[in-house]
Amino acid sequence: MKVGVFDSGIGGLTVVKSLLQHQLFEEIIYFGDTARVPYGSKDKNTIIRYGIEAVEFFKNFKLDMLIVACNTVSAYALSEMQEAANCPVIGVVEAGVLATQNALTNKNANILIIGTNATINSQAYEKGLKDLDFQNLQAKATPLFVPLVEEEIFDGAIVKESFKHYFQKLTHPDALILGCTHFPLLASSLQNYFGQETQLIHSGDAIVEYLEKTFDFQTKYTNPSLQFFASENPDALRLIAKRWLDV
Ligand code: DGL
Repeated sequence: MKVGVFDSGIGGLTVVKSLLQHQLFEEIIYFGDTARVPYGSKDKNTIIRYGIEAVEFFKNFKLDMLIVACNTVSAYALSEMQEAANCPVIGVVEAGVLATQNALTNKNANILIIGTNATINSQAYEKGLKDLDFQNLQAKATPLFVPLVEEEIFDGAIVKESFKHYFQKLTHPDALILGCTHFPLLASSLQNYFGQETQLIHSGDAIVEYLEKTFDFQTKYTNPSLQFFASENPDALRLIAKRWLDV
């Protein structure tokens, strides 16, 4: 099984981490569009065009499956990418919605969705959750978290202040959807801020849950081959991959 993982930059490595932990694939090919990140402040047509260009990039690799790790791209460009590709293309939004459903027993649970401006404006998570009868939803764009994570600032005073800035007027959530590739790296700070009773939904774990339910994985791959590509400075991405993934 050969899988491609696409993200606007380095954040999608959090999804690769989950794929590696669950040993689902023999070969993982990662492409981060580091020259054009962030996507979260771009408009719909640009995000769709970049998504289709990523499909073209991956065509050289004859993939069995392409995972769109980027929430922003999953929210806007999934169907266009599915049309352009010659393998299944799977996004993190649907997987995240289903993982939230599986994590919650109460349809009145308060769910807070955080993501880039584009993801929150798309209302993609809300639409999916409303279809499953969850009505008690809050959504907040938290774009400052992206550069914090890119700087590898995962906790401390600036992080706490940014949490206060975004969250202090919101109702305390029962579940928090980390609707952006970067946010799992803030998970332990977010868990401390909201308390242990708030359930965190992580795109990487959600996609693994979705894949295991949807496809029949027969083999575990303990030593998968990994290749990392980037549209700018691939060496920097490979260094971060080494640190974050311990590979
Ligand atoms: N990868 C993006 C996402 O998950 C975050 C970074 C960006 O804005 O491109 O939405």
